[in-house]
Amino acid sequence: MQTGRVVSTTFIFACLLLFITVLSAQENSVPSANLALTPPMGWNSWNKFACNVSEDLIKGMADTVVKSGMKDAGYVYVNIDDCWQVSRDANGNIVADPQHFPHGMKAVGDYIHSLGLKFGVYSDAGSKTCAGRPGGLGHEYQDAIQYAAWGVDYLKYDWCNTTTQDAKASYANIRAALDASGRPIVLSICEWGKSQPWLWGKEVGGNLWRATGDINDRWGGQEKWKDGSCCSNGVTAIIDQEAPLYSYAGPGHWNDPDMLEVGNGGMTDVEYRSHFSLWAILAAPLIAGNDLRNMRPEISDILTNKEVIAVDQDALGRQGERVAKNGDLEVWAKQLKDGSRAVVLLNRGAAEQQVSASWQDLGYPNSLSASVRDLWQHKDLGQVTGKFSAAVASHSVVMVTVKP
Ligand code: GLA
Repeated sequence: MQTGRVVSTTFIFACLLLFITVLSAQENSVPSANLALTPPMGWNSWNKFACNVSEDLIKGMADTVVKSGMKDAGYVYVNIDDCWQVSRDANGNIVADPQHFPHGMKAVGDYIHSLGLKFGVYSDAGSKTCAGRPGGLGHEYQDAIQYAAWGVDYLKYDWCNTTTQDAKASYANIRAALDASGRPIVLSICEWGKSQPWLWGKEVGGNLWRATGDINDRWGGQEKWKDGSCCSNGVTAIIDQEAPLYSYAGPGHWNDPDMLEVGNGGMTDVEYRSHFSLWAILAAPLIAGNDLRNMRPEISDILTNKEVIAVDQDALGRQGERVAKNGDLEVWAKQLKDGSRAVVLLNRGAAEQQVSASWQDLGYPNSLSASVRDLWQHKDLGQVTGKFSAAVASHSVVMVTVKP
């Protein structure tokens, strides 16, 4: 009697264990499992070159990712945005622009891979891309097979010309198609936050999702597009929209405040440094969008600041929060894996001001003594108790780590 009960309990326990093992094996067996465990880093053509993309441009940029030290700093994806595609052939296969990509897309991918980098392309869930090129609608599985054959590692999937399509279903469909190709491909959902992708992006296998309209190379504000629709965003407009979304980010699935404008000429170097620091505190994908081939050293120093990048790439995968706001003065904090905090003191105002981060705002007791390190000066600032204060210039940041 007693033995029988032990046997049956053991049997039930063994079955349960088997069931859990099978389930988790299934989950890990899709090719896209375990992608983007830290926010993706790379370069994309759109912010600087828009539709002027070509094989020469992409190969030159890939070379520069290596030569400039960007690869060493962690940038790995080289992504071609809109306008590489021109039509579909009689069988419905997507056709790359033969004039600008004379050796085809596989040759571009092979070249990128030969440098130890990864290859990204762009398409759209609707009938046409935003620039009017053929979209993916109705060709999802066919395109996924083609992308896999070209060696694509990253797909940005846009949301133009989608009429009445359901966003969640459309992105689930392309993820299923990509996985069916057998190749691990990062899926970048680009539907501008219209259907709150932070609520379903992870479930459908998206690795990152835009939460806003496009970034513009500007410090602040929103501007309507030429057709009157809303809006392109400056840096501060984007961080305001990203701030409430921190709980949705984590390893494998990130809020995407859009690609970097660092080095594109519309902001001061101080503003670019703030832009980069804020993207790092947001655990944002760091996709550079400038012409890397002729960066000034000041721009290269921003993009390759390894201490700031380490904050972005911290393995805990927390998105930072805005923990204090007093008019133009803000404190942003991100918990790091070792229990320390990365902190950005931000001054959005027109004149220099003193900004303080209290230990309480960082989730520490005020009595705690912690070591503070400045991530732009690359300098230890010593042991501090209760709060850290610094003078912050207009549109600037002071970025530190606070380590108990
Ligand atoms: C949309 C996207 C941009 C870019 C363009 C390309 O506007 O949000 O990031 O990909 O389309 O046409």
